[in-house]
Amino acid sequence: MKKVIIAYFSQGGTTAKVAEQIAQGIKEKNYDVDLFNMQDGKPPDINQYEILGIGFPVYAFRPPFNVMDYIKTLPNLNGMPFFLFYLYGSYPGTAGNVVRRALSKKGGKEVGYTRCRGEDYAMIYLKRGYLFSPGHPTEEELSNAYAFGGNVILNATVKTYAKPQYDPQPGLIYNIERFVLLRPFVNQLYSRFYIVEKEKCNSCGICIKKCPTGNITTNEKGFPKWGRNCISCWYCEMSCPLEAITCPADWFIMEPFLKYNIKHAVSDLSIDKVKVTLSKGKVKRI
Ligand SMILES: Cc1cc2nc3c(=O)[nH]c(=O)nc-3n(C[C@H](O)[C@H](O)[C@H](O)COP(=O)(O)O)c2cc1C
Repeated sequence: MKKVIIAYFSQGGTTAKVAEQIAQGIKEKNYDVDLFNMQDGKPPDINQYEILGIGFPVYAFRPPFNVMDYIKTLPNLNGMPFFLFYLYGSYPGTAGNVVRRALSKKGGKEVGYTRCRGEDYAMIYLKRGYLFSPGHPTEEELSNAYAFGGNVILNATVKTYAKPQYDPQPGLIYNIERFVLLRPFVNQLYSRFYIVEKEKCNSCGICIKKCPTGNITTNEKGFPKWGRNCISCWYCEMSCPLEAITCPADWFIMEPFLKYNIKHAVSDLSIDKVKVTLSKGKVKRI
């Protein structure tokens, strides 16, 4: 039987849900599917597969760094059909373009591109009282993902694929935010400024478990310390039950940008939202 690999990253589980549905849609067309979560160690050898799928959440209007790292490790795709999908909470920017271009540059042939809203656990918004896109992906979005899976196989085999246009650039403010969160800044600068309040931290290790890149270890006193492979997901701070961690995302210079993002998304009727509180690592709807 022909085989498809879907390689995805999913911190909050929404991308994983969509990946699962796409896989079901593909299986319906008598293809075998392997799902590979990029957090699960060594990736399988791509040469065993006929079609490659990539799934990821949008982080700061682009794909997360670890997803780009995975793509970099791929050999030349030599015309291998690929598809991609991403999850986003409010405004995705050009996250899709970046991955489409990278896979095409690797020699892949695009046969599917889709996106879907996903519950947005960006700490910066939760802390300020908002959960965007709650309850997404919905049942309808999941059944669209299932149908997308079937279409990908048709596009790769019998149909002519009409490649969608590339997405437009986001506005100036979002471009600035994306710039501020470029990888060299995140890894060489911000990751040096995570603060742990030693009076609060009890070395429970939750932040270490939550870090998707294994970037957090402990120092000689048992307190968390950050390496240079941060993807700025801020799950460490968000999940800390003792609120002992402060990320650079909390720096006051970020405040005007966050206010702008929230105001924009709150007034946008196409984006679902609910009011929440984030306290001691738990999100509660108000
Ligand atoms: C650190 C962080 C940054 C995010 N940045 C964006 C963004 O720029 N635009 C957007 O629309 N959604 C953004 N999101 C929302 C996620 O893309 C969305 O919630 C997605 O469904 C999460 O996927 P997952 O549940 O598989 O981790 C961000 C989420 C996090 C945690």
